[in-house]
Amino acid sequence: MRPGNHQRFRDLLPGDVSRPDVNPYITSHREFGDEIVPGSEAPALKEKWPEVFGRVAPLHLEVGSGNGFYLAGMAEKHPDQDWVGVEIRYKRVVLVAKKLRVAGLKNARIVRYDARALDTLFPQGALAGVHINHPDPWERESKRHHRLIDRGFIELITGLCALGAELRLKTDFGPHVKALLQACEGLPWELVGVRTDVDVQGSIWSDDVVTNYQRKARERGLPVHAACLRRIASGSSNTSAAPPDPQPLPHPSSAVSGSSVGSVPSRHSSTLT
Ligand SMILES: C[S@@+](CC[C@H](N)C(=O)[O-])C[C@H]1O[C@@H](n2cnc3c(N)ncnc32)[C@H](O)[C@@H]1O
Repeated sequence: MRPGNHQRFRDLLPGDVSRPDVNPYITSHREFGDEIVPGSEAPALKEKWPEVFGRVAPLHLEVGSGNGFYLAGMAEKHPDQDWVGVEIRYKRVVLVAKKLRVAGLKNARIVRYDARALDTLFPQGALAGVHINHPDPWERESKRHHRLIDRGFIELITGLCALGAELRLKTDFGPHVKALLQACEGLPWELVGVRTDVDVQGSIWSDDVVTNYQRKARERGLPVHAACLRRIASGSSNTSAAPPDPQPLPHPSSAVSGSSVGSVPSRHSSTLT
C-alpha cells in the first residue's frame, strides 16, 4: 500500500459507539489528562509538537507502544529528547499513560492513532528517530496484509524522518527484519546493524529498553532480532521513490558511515555494525 492510498484514520468519538460501556477506555482515555492525545485531537498538533512539549528538541516516535515500557524507559533515559508513542488500542493507551504519569515524564505523550496515517501527525522531516518494537506478526497467510512493515509504510516513515534519523526495529518474528530491509531497498537509508539474537550478540544500542513482548519472547526461548538503519540524503542512494532531502537533525546522533540499503546482503549478517 502506498502513502495516501491507505484508508485515513478517523477516530471514534464516544457518541459514535452505541455501547461505550463495552470498552470503557473509549471514553476514559479522553478524560485521562495531558499524557494522552486522543486521535481526534492529534492532527491539529501536526505542526505544533514543539508547543506541546514547550521546547524544540529531537522528536522520537514509537510505533505500537503496547504497555509503554519502552516509551517511558526511553523518555526517562533521554530527558533532552521528546517522545511520541502511537498506539491503536484504547486500553493500552491508558496503560502507557499511567506509566508516563507515575514516572513524572513531561517529555512523552501517547497518541491513540493508526500508525498507517502518521503523515497526518508529523510534518515531513520532523522525526529524529522511529522505533518499532515487536509489531504484530499476522502469521496466517490470510492475514498477512495486516502487517505494518511494507513498502508503503516505510516510504511514509522515510518522508517523516530528518537526515541522520535512526529507524530501529526489534522483533521475535524474523520475517519482519527481512521485510524491513527489502522495503528500504532503493530508499535513502543506510544499514547500521542487524542482529539475529540480541541476547547472544548484544544489542545494537547502548540505550535500549526491554519491551513487554521482548520479555515474553525471552521467556518462551525465542530469539529477538533487531535492525537499525540511518536516514541519509536521497542523493546517496539509488532511489527514485525518495521524498526530497530532509533537513539534518539539530543534534546528529552520529556520523558513522555505513552501507546503503541497496547493498545489504539478502542473508543477514549478525555483525554488520
Ligand atoms: C505485539 S504488540 C507489541 C507492543 C510493544 N511494542 C512491545 O514490544 O511490547 C503490537 C502493538 O502494536 C499496536 N498496533 C498494531 N497495529 C497498529 C497500528 N496500525 N497503529 C498503532 N498501533 C498499532 C497493537 O495494538 C499492539 O499494542
